[in-house]
Amino acid sequence: MKIIITGHTRGLGKRFYEHFVSDTNNEVIGFSKRQGTDLNVSIDAVVEAALGCDLFINNAYAGRKQIELIKRLNNKVKMIVVSGSQGGFFNNLIPTEYGKNKKDLSEICHLVSLDKNSSTKILHLDLSCLEGNEVDIDDPDNLKCDYTIEFNQVVQTVDSWIENPSFNDIRFNFKITDLLYDQISTKMGTKKELDQLVEKIKQAVDKSA
Ligand SMILES: NC(=O)c1ccc[n+]([C@@H]2O[C@H](COP(=O)([O-])OP(=O)(O)OC[C@H]3O[C@@H](n4cnc5c(N)ncnc54)[C@H](OP(=O)(O)O)[C@@H]3O)[C@@H](O)[C@H]2O)c1
Repeated sequence: MKIIITGHTRGLGKRFYEHFVSDTNNEVIGFSKRQGTDLNVSIDAVVEAALGCDLFINNAYAGRKQIELIKRLNNKVKMIVVSGSQGGFFNNLIPTEYGKNKKDLSEICHLVSLDKNSSTKILHLDLSCLEGNEVDIDDPDNLKCDYTIEFNQVVQTVDSWIENPSFNDIRFNFKITDLLYDQISTKMGTKKELDQLVEKIKQAVDKSA
C-alpha cells in the first residue's frame, strides 16, 4: 500500500509510521514540521504526495488544516484515517479553538461518509488521552487524564478497519474521573453544566440497570 502520514515524528503518528513501514510491501511517506513541512504554511506538498494513495493518515493537528486536507483529498485517495479528539464533545462545556476545530473535523468526516459520490472510505478516531500524554494542565486547551489509551490499541483498530472498512467512527474510552471533573469544572469556572452532565450519566446508567 502507498501510505501518507502527517505528524509521523512523535506520538501516535510515529507509532503509525513505525507500524506501516515495518511491512516492506508498503511505501510510507511522512510529513512533519521538523522535517520541513509546516501544515500551517502550506498543505500542497502533502496533497500532491497523497493523490491516488491507498491510505492517508490525517494525524497532525494544525488548526483547520486537517479539515482542509479532507476536502482536498476526498474522492482522490482510497482511505482516510483521521485523528480527532473528544475535546470536540467538550467544546460545549469548555469552548476552545482546539475543541471547535475537532468538533468541525468530526462533522466533516461524518459528511464525507454520507457522500454518495465519494469513493473514499473515511474513519474518524474520536481519541482521548493517549499514552505518553504529558500535558500542561494549566493550558486551557489541555486536560490531564489519570488513564490513557495505548498507541497499539489505536493502530490495531485501524488495521481491522483497513481489512473491513464498514464503520466510520470509533470513540475511544473517556471517563469523567475525579481528576477530570476537577479540571473541567476549574476551566469552566462553574460546575453547573458539568453536574448536569454527570447527573444525566447517572440517570442513564440507573435506568439501564
Ligand atoms: N495526545 C493526546 O492525548 C491526544 C488526545 C486526543 C486527540 N489527539 C490527537 O491525536 C493526534 C496526534 O496527537 P499526538 O499527541 O500523538 O501528537 P504529538 O505527539 O503532539 O505530535 C505531533 C506530530 O504532528 C507534527 N506536527 C505538529 N504541528 C505540525 C504542523 N503545523 N505541520 C506539520 N506537522 C506538525 C509534529 O511534527 P514535529 O515533530 O516535526 O513537530 C509531530 O510529528 C492529534 O491530531 C491530536 O489532536 C491527541
